[in-house]
Amino acid sequence: MPRFSDKVAIITGAASGIGKEIAVRFAAEGGVPVIADLNFDAADATAREIRGKGSDAFAVAMNVADETAVERGVSDTMAKYGRIDVLVSNAGIQIVKPVVDFPFGDWKRLLAIQLDGAFLTTKACLRYMYQAKSGSIIYMGSVHSKEASVLKAPYVTAKHGLLGLCRVVAKEGAQYNVRANVVCPGFVRTPLVDKQIPEQAKELGISEEDVIKRVMLKDTVDGQFTTTQDVAEAVLFCAGFKTNALTGQSLVVSHGWFME
Ligand SMILES: NC(=O)c1ccc[n+]([C@@H]2O[C@H](COP(=O)([O-])OP(=O)(O)OC[C@H]3O[C@@H](n4cnc5c(N)ncnc54)[C@H](O)[C@@H]3O)[C@@H](O)[C@H]2O)c1
Repeated sequence: MPRFSDKVAIITGAASGIGKEIAVRFAAEGGVPVIADLNFDAADATAREIRGKGSDAFAVAMNVADETAVERGVSDTMAKYGRIDVLVSNAGIQIVKPVVDFPFGDWKRLLAIQLDGAFLTTKACLRYMYQAKSGSIIYMGSVHSKEASVLKAPYVTAKHGLLGLCRVVAKEGAQYNVRANVVCPGFVRTPLVDKQIPEQAKELGISEEDVIKRVMLKDTVDGQFTTTQDVAEAVLFCAGFKTNALTGQSLVVSHGWFME
């Protein structure tokens, strides 16, 4: 029997990049991914792609920073499937600028997506997970949950913050058999990273090749990008882990960039 047979996972930001890979892999292992994304057309295309391979998938329009949209997406999922076994809080953006120049509006927008989004989706899903006395919540952290880099003040702040939210959810959720983890990737070639290569080159006054070699992959053991498959594997490991033994923990997936 496939590992996630009949299980339902809401995956935010799953129209693209890491979230999409998690959705595809979850479906391949028997589960139903709910593709919750700001970009509904792309979410719907991902859901259709998965259904085309013979699995079920459902697309919902969701701005994770908007409480009404989150509540609607979660209740639509419950109405359709009657259960939510896994939440992967993955939607995120990146904006790079030095602190001294960081526009306050951009700071607030980034924190709203990364932190308000994690809080709102957690709160909405916990209600149903507590009733079912079962659930797994996985936050998409980053090596930047543990490390700082120049130009990334709100991102580093938000990713550190997710560790705190995860630990509280792990403690509060334990009596309901709800577990929480953070998966912390290194650099992964997705649109989010492709966009920041030229931006960082400009801010740091170096070539794009040097941004990749001397900034992004400098401390890896093998000079390799982390892949979406690497990250999806770690997320599904956490989602499928059945006891509370690992709850509250974070797992770094970074080709050795950050070791603890
Ligand atoms: N790519 C990396 O190197 C890397 C490394 C560590 C962590 N991460 C984290 O992984 C997550 C996914 O990043 P990715 O690289 O796959 O990016 P991506 O840009 O490929 O995908 C992000 C998705 O999130 C969606 N999104 C953006 N704002 C949203 C909102 N308000 N509500 C709902 N959906 C929204 C986008 O439409 C997009 O589909 C992010 O949390 C990011 O911080 C990425």
